[in-house]
Amino acid sequence: MTIPLTTTKSEEIFAAAQKIMPGGVNSPVRAFKSVGGQPIVFERVKGAYAWDVDGNQYIDYVGSWGPAICGHTHPDVINALKEALEKGTSFGAPCVLENILAEMVIDAVPSVEMVRFVNSGTEACLSVLRLMRAFTGRDKLIKFEGCYHGHGDMFLVKAGSGVATLGLPDSPGVPKAVTISTLTAPYNDLEAVKELFNENPGEIAGVILEPIVGNAGFIPPDAGFLEGLRVLTKENGALLVFDEVMTGFRIAYGGVQEKFGVTPDLTTLGKVIGGGLPVGAYGGRRDIMSMVAPAGPMYQAGTLSGNPLAMTAGIKTLELLQKPGTYEYLDKITKKLSAGLLKIAKETGHAACGGQISGMFGLFFTEGPIHNYEDAKKSDLAKFSRFHRGMLERGIYLAPSQFEAGFTSLAHTDEDIDKTLAAAREVMSSL
Ligand SMILES: Cc1ncc(COP(=O)(O)O)c(C=O)c1O
Repeated sequence: MTIPLTTTKSEEIFAAAQKIMPGGVNSPVRAFKSVGGQPIVFERVKGAYAWDVDGNQYIDYVGSWGPAICGHTHPDVINALKEALEKGTSFGAPCVLENILAEMVIDAVPSVEMVRFVNSGTEACLSVLRLMRAFTGRDKLIKFEGCYHGHGDMFLVKAGSGVATLGLPDSPGVPKAVTISTLTAPYNDLEAVKELFNENPGEIAGVILEPIVGNAGFIPPDAGFLEGLRVLTKENGALLVFDEVMTGFRIAYGGVQEKFGVTPDLTTLGKVIGGGLPVGAYGGRRDIMSMVAPAGPMYQAGTLSGNPLAMTAGIKTLELLQKPGTYEYLDKITKKLSAGLLKIAKETGHAACGGQISGMFGLFFTEGPIHNYEDAKKSDLAKFSRFHRGMLERGIYLAPSQFEAGFTSLAHTDEDIDKTLAAAREVMSSL
């Protein structure tokens, strides 16, 4: 099933892009820096597939980095968008679609009693941090190594995702005065968090984390970790924030907090709730959210926030996810993929570990087990790069970094998984 991967047009377009946009992209990880080789320039997407400008077809396990959970360009979403488009692309005034999506989010996500829509996950995390500080009157924040919460200054400390990919411990341009309030701990290490609380009594506004990590590769929480954080934050008068930008409506309809039964004080969302259009959201306890302007004094605003197109795509996507069997299906096909990859790795003599929950998965080229970012960094990155290129050449589009989770969708079929595993066997046999 090897396809001759002609990439002439991709190369031309990317060469031109590099002259006019930094690195040729508008988000770093897309540039394939960590796996090497040329990135593929997309032309269109549909269902589980993507087509590049040279006409190559791929089974897509990136899904626009998470939003495409129903498959790309689902007809229900597209038809609803066409109708909404006729009524206007942006109102800058209240619209009923905001109420509808807000109610859907509140009904679904256990911690959310009130919600504010924004335009990206980054914006949601920036806003939630301001809110944590406003509510507690404290400045310090605990985050975990390898967790990514968007590119806000105070989160660019030991962040995962593209920051990990580029090997930047943090970024120039981030003032020390800002990150001095950001305390970090290894993921899954409750003792380290306890110590930070002991060392900074009455100063920590809260703890923010990816309740299942996707930005250092796929790393689930150890038993008791989320529960322990809930207890520790309560004991110390601090807030617990789940960044469910990636996991919200993906791990379960109500996110990790529904799946694991641990309710944070605040939650950030993005990706799936915009159905492929730019959206983020933050929400949580009514008493905390009541501090947000104009209900309260904490300022946060957005020209395009709650715009009718993004709300429409979000509403339709969540409606599709409400259908019975959705998450069972995602879990079934993703389990088959993940177990298959691990079995093939073993049979072809590679040290590998990984796992999945619902439609999110990861594969590391190391023996494991992996509990945190330090463990993840033990992966054989050169091997991952060769694996990535081999899969790409066989029509399988994986995230171009060892430190990113993979995503499946409702459009991925058993046959797609079989093809992917056949390709993986070929590639791993020759790595
Ligand atoms: C957990 C998490 N938080 C925040 C963000 C930032 O979201 P955005 O890229 O929409 O700004 C991401 C993006 O991947 C994410 O995975």
